[in-house]
Amino acid sequence: MRVLVAYYSRTGTTARIASMIAAEFGADLEMIRSPACASGIPGALHALGTCLGARPPAILPTRLNPADYALVILGTPVWALSLAAPLRAWLATRARNLPACAAFATASAAGFRGTFAAIETLTGQKLRASLAITAEDICAGREHLATLRFAESLRGATTRLWRHTPPRLAHHHETFLGW
Ligand SMILES: Cc1cc2nc3c(=O)[nH]c(=O)nc-3n(C[C@H](O)[C@H](O)[C@H](O)COP(=O)(O)O)c2cc1C
Repeated sequence: MRVLVAYYSRTGTTARIASMIAAEFGADLEMIRSPACASGIPGALHALGTCLGARPPAILPTRLNPADYALVILGTPVWALSLAAPLRAWLATRARNLPACAAFATASAAGFRGTFAAIETLTGQKLRASLAITAEDICAGREHLATLRFAESLRGATTRLWRHTPPRLAHHHETFLGW
């Protein structure tokens, strides 16, 4: 089954989780870029502005067509208790043509419920699985196990989609847990 992980990350946290999830599924990775929100103080101020109702930021063109995949996994940092504006901008032209979706989010502490609810509203579909990672989870080194559990639950929730390409064997996950 073809899987796409499409994500936005301003400071790298969501990007790291995206790579881990993509490795679990052998998925293609699509990074959404928004130069206006890039790292640094001007980028942070711009990002904050999008939370206060400023126009959605411009994003650079992306390479991959989500309609070519059986499953799309969306990743975002939580911004003001919702999804980050660059992912919202990416979804603006694609949300209604997506295949089955799952999502993951990273945050300092809170706002996951609103983030996943907003993604479901924008895509018009219920997420097959969701993963919430806090800064505390990362400090405690819990993100690897959380990612593994997310991948397992997603495989369980999308069994029908795996008909032609079986998921990886269980022993591969044990190796992953070992390091
Ligand atoms: C504009 C902005 C708004 C944010 N809002 C929240 C929030 O509502 N709740 C929260 O716990 N963290 C919030 N954060 C922190 C980020 O969600 C968190 O640092 C995230 O892991 C960053 O991911 P990244 O490194 O992939 O950009 C916010 C950060 C920014 C820049």
